[in-house]
Amino acid sequence: KTKIIMDCDPGHDDATAIMMAGMNPQLDLLGITVVKGNQTIEKTTKNTLEVCQTLGLNVPVYEGMSVPMVIPSPQTEERVHGKSGLDGPKFAPLTKKKEKKHAIQFIIETLMASDGDITLVPTGPLTNIAMAMRLEPRIISKIKEIVMMGGSYEHGNVTPSAEFNIYADAEAAYVVFTSGVHITMMGLDITRKALCFPVIVKRMRQHDNPAARLFGDMMDFFIKAQHDTYGWEGAPLHDPTTIAYLIDPSVITTKKMHTDIEIRSTQSYGRTNCDYFNLTDAPKNTSVAIAIDVDKFWDIVEDSIKLYD
Ligand code: BDR
Ligand code: CA
Repeated sequence: KTKIIMDCDPGHDDATAIMMAGMNPQLDLLGITVVKGNQTIEKTTKNTLEVCQTLGLNVPVYEGMSVPMVIPSPQTEERVHGKSGLDGPKFAPLTKKKEKKHAIQFIIETLMASDGDITLVPTGPLTNIAMAMRLEPRIISKIKEIVMMGGSYEHGNVTPSAEFNIYADAEAAYVVFTSGVHITMMGLDITRKALCFPVIVKRMRQHDNPAARLFGDMMDFFIKAQHDTYGWEGAPLHDPTTIAYLIDPSVITTKKMHTDIEIRSTQSYGRTNCDYFNLTDAPKNTSVAIAIDVDKFWDIVEDSIKLYD
């Protein structure tokens, strides 16, 4: 079993990633840490608890950072995730509680007590992970790998250069990408190909279990929001590509390259400068996703939903 800690900001795609990881027999989900991103920390934490409760997942949830490391807090992603950060589903009254421990403390203690066999799966801004690395640098050699959603080697989605998760705390991304830990990066280049259309929602809803209903209710909102905000057909399921890759690496093709995070530029703040053509001798610190098998991706999502029958 692959031991993982998810670090997220739900978010419709983060919630789908939790659903996919929560019951998978190949994955051992040790805990979920939450960060400010798509919405405020209060809202992303509440959303995480609601998703876990709805799916019957008995996994501890730890609240983390409410602001970025250096910059003032940027805008939340209300336009595509709604006022709550997870608009669409109607949740039952919340009984599941967050843990008392801070997310950063959980990350540090869990990694320090481990045999170096834990993979971190961040799908939000990298604030919690970077803060943990700064507070206890000895965790760095304990991390097996980081499989994350963020960045792009082509286009941005917040500015022409930058993707939301990196833009929302580029200094944190800088800390993580210069840490020496190998990073597998699911960027917009491939995540924007994992598009959810109504026909997919129909296919998943057929399973008629809690995961299928949650997925359907989330996607109905998410597809409409993408359309109303950007005029886009189909909703990109960015974050679940990380979990799909951990379940079956053959779904994603990666290429090893050096990646730098731009933190000094005004225009390109938060850009992931990926050395696709190997123009520098800098160490290849990332395996950057360059292709996705979309049919296989949806099969993995469907298999994940079936586990909730
Ligand atoms: C990323 O930003 C968020 O809105 C999504 O949850 C995803 O993690 C995509 O840029
Ligand atoms: Ca996210």
